[in-house]
Amino acid sequence: MAQMWAGRFKKQLDSKINDFNSSLSFDCRMYAEDIEGSKAHVRMLGECGIISKDDSVKIVECLNDIKADIKIGKIEFSGSAAEDIHMFIEEELTARIGDTGKRLHTARSRNDQVALDIRLYLRKEINELKHGLKGIITVLTNLSERHLKTVMPGYTHLQRAQPITFAHHLMAYAQMFLRDIERLSDTYKRMNYCPLGSGALAGSTFPIDREKTSNLLKFNAPTANSIDGVSDRDFCIELSGAISIIMTHLSRFSEEIILWCSWEFKFIDLDDAYATGSSIMPQKKNPDIAELVRGKAARIFGNNMALLAIIKGLPLAYNKDMQEDKEAIFDSIDNAKLCIESFIPMLSTMRVLEGNMRNAAVKGFINATDCADYLVKKGMAFRDAYKITGELVALCISRDFGLEDLAISEYKNFSELFDDDIYHAVNLETCVFKRNSQGGPSPERVLEQIEQTREILKDVL
Ligand code: ARG
Repeated sequence: MAQMWAGRFKKQLDSKINDFNSSLSFDCRMYAEDIEGSKAHVRMLGECGIISKDDSVKIVECLNDIKADIKIGKIEFSGSAAEDIHMFIEEELTARIGDTGKRLHTARSRNDQVALDIRLYLRKEINELKHGLKGIITVLTNLSERHLKTVMPGYTHLQRAQPITFAHHLMAYAQMFLRDIERLSDTYKRMNYCPLGSGALAGSTFPIDREKTSNLLKFNAPTANSIDGVSDRDFCIELSGAISIIMTHLSRFSEEIILWCSWEFKFIDLDDAYATGSSIMPQKKNPDIAELVRGKAARIFGNNMALLAIIKGLPLAYNKDMQEDKEAIFDSIDNAKLCIESFIPMLSTMRVLEGNMRNAAVKGFINATDCADYLVKKGMAFRDAYKITGELVALCISRDFGLEDLAISEYKNFSELFDDDIYHAVNLETCVFKRNSQGGPSPERVLEQIEQTREILKDVL
């Protein structure tokens, strides 16, 4: 078929270059958004008297037919020489209803069209991502509820630090994912402006009604400046940033799952359906899903970098470089969704090895802070109590003891303030359950977090 711009040109575009130039293979996924955008545009054209009502109705009906035909696979994209999804739909429309179809593109450019389509597409995807995160948080709250009293070591520098519960640890991730949902909602808010009517860059001489199209497509308002409307892709960068942060959280969680599965920790056992074996080592059970999630974080960060770099040197307004935005943001969304979908069943089916967690918490002096706090509560200054406890720990290490194993006479050699109640103070359960400060690991406090989280989740679609 002759190219749309054949009037100006003497030759067809070289066919290899046409392939290079075409975005149809990846922007075809926005066909529904492209059609919905065109329908709103053409309705507005009809209502503003820019084209006839009859033509407007005819175009809308045909666009609906095209959408239905694409959906059932009656029309295929492969083999088409169209430059992008926008051209593809317009060509199909014109092939079906002739001259009437040629009126669709009045007062519009592909520049505002593509800026619109991506926003429509990303709005839908943001909601799916939020829904996925809600799924992870739901699993976390349910798991936590069952493990309010499952004591495990809390770490800093990957050294045993202070005792916590498994529920407390899991709910830390729930908080991160809640913020991720909020970040997605913020991104949505800023993205939710309609660029349609910006035209190529300088608006239109036709009496278009931008409020109308913006309302029809459920945007907050039309974009304020027609040059900005077609030039920026900050909303893609922002979404890709939000997804990168989601992946940072998922990757960090994955790292812990990988550690917890190792024989060195053995805090959890993954369900066989969510682990893999080795082709040579018969004993192996590998946490591939978690590793893959950790790995996919890297490509998503790469996409984020690509998006920043695509835009950073572009003069206003549209430049073809911007066609590269789509593969980057689509890849980030697709992979983040895959990660979330795989993570949910992996988490909900894993076996928690409570005994191993507790055993690990017994070793490593994670009750040393509590020993120092004991002295402080008896009147000693914290720094002095800290020093004495350090000496006690050194003594215990030399004897391969725990603080709970030292005789009271030995304690008294270090300070007269020690009494029999020290054993209660350094008891693991006391250490955890008495940490009752807001946000702390005591079962009541964690339950509070679970309840608050569930309350917040109710408002997430
Ligand atoms: N396929 C193009 C893109 O994704 C659509 C906009 C084309 N506009 C243009 N003036 N060449 O960016």
